[in-house]
Amino acid sequence: MEGLNTTVQIAGGFVLKNPVMVASGTFGYGLEFAGLMDISLLGAVVVKGLSLRPREGNPPPRIIETPAGLINAIGLQNIGVERFLKDKLPEIKRLGATVVANIFGESIDEYSEVARLLSGAEGVSAIEINISCPNVKKGGLRFGQDPASAREVVEAVRKSTELPIITKLSPDAPDLKAMVEAVESAGTDAISLINTIPAMAIDVERRRPVLSTMTGGLSGPAIKPIALRLVWQVAGFAKVPVIGMGGIMTGRDALEFIIAGACAIQVGTLNLVEPDGALRVIREMEAYMHKKGIRSIGELTGSLVLPER
Ligand SMILES: Cc1cc2nc3c(=O)[nH]c(=O)nc-3n(C[C@H](O)[C@H](O)[C@H](O)COP(=O)(O)O)c2cc1C
Repeated sequence: MEGLNTTVQIAGGFVLKNPVMVASGTFGYGLEFAGLMDISLLGAVVVKGLSLRPREGNPPPRIIETPAGLINAIGLQNIGVERFLKDKLPEIKRLGATVVANIFGESIDEYSEVARLLSGAEGVSAIEINISCPNVKKGGLRFGQDPASAREVVEAVRKSTELPIITKLSPDAPDLKAMVEAVESAGTDAISLINTIPAMAIDVERRRPVLSTMTGGLSGPAIKPIALRLVWQVAGFAKVPVIGMGGIMTGRDALEFIIAGACAIQVGTLNLVEPDGALRVIREMEAYMHKKGIRSIGELTGSLVLPER
């Protein structure tokens, strides 16, 4: 829309043309959606989580629908960082998309090696670190549950790359404030939240868990109010920019996160039900700005009016 400024600067050199990204794991490597929409119109494509070696993920059933979302236990299936760089990245770049590489590892060394390989390639604008991965050396305790481990991961990635770093938080971290302080002191440029919320479903006929892994991660509209509350709280104490997500299906949902303090947002589950839904979210946000006479999206970030006491 004419005259509106929707650009968002997340970190030095990492500028989005609009605040709407597509979330990791819900948009493949971007190319799967290229026949359905112009992916260069998105703020950024956050690609499926990449590890050092390819992974097959968990056996089925690994995704189920719930009344207002879905529970997934995909298990971080991916083609591995090297094939991504060779077979996917050049094509996504040719299509004009801004690419954020989401990464994970089972050890600190794996995180830092994946980051190093990505930063040697041209075309990645930022790295998003998924710390919701089990740390094999600490008996499977997830990095995102423990501020000291999260700090180590971010420090190691910081040393291996000059690219801007976004750290993606787990919603079930026992102390989010300590977590934010840890990753900030380790040099993260931004924080994104939330990842999926641990959840479960049971088949009562067979009295068995529905998912092969028993539990999985809940996403979609069911988690939006929880995600919004967490984003609002984290934005209240974070020193770095916050990127919000969790159940965003409309422009108004996205605006709630921006008003709560997020400088940008990601849409995930929406992509699975409406492949070009993220573009509708952008249009709806622009229509709101137009109607309210807001010229720059930055005016809205953290603009929540608190009730007088
Ligand atoms: C099928 C599926 C796969 C996902 N895979 C990843 C992943 O590889 N890495 C990651 O950081 N988050 C992953 N996520 C989490 C999403 O990026 C997002 O944080 C979460 O779904 C909440 O947003 P939503 O409610 O809009 O989907 C995945 C989510 C879904 C539904």
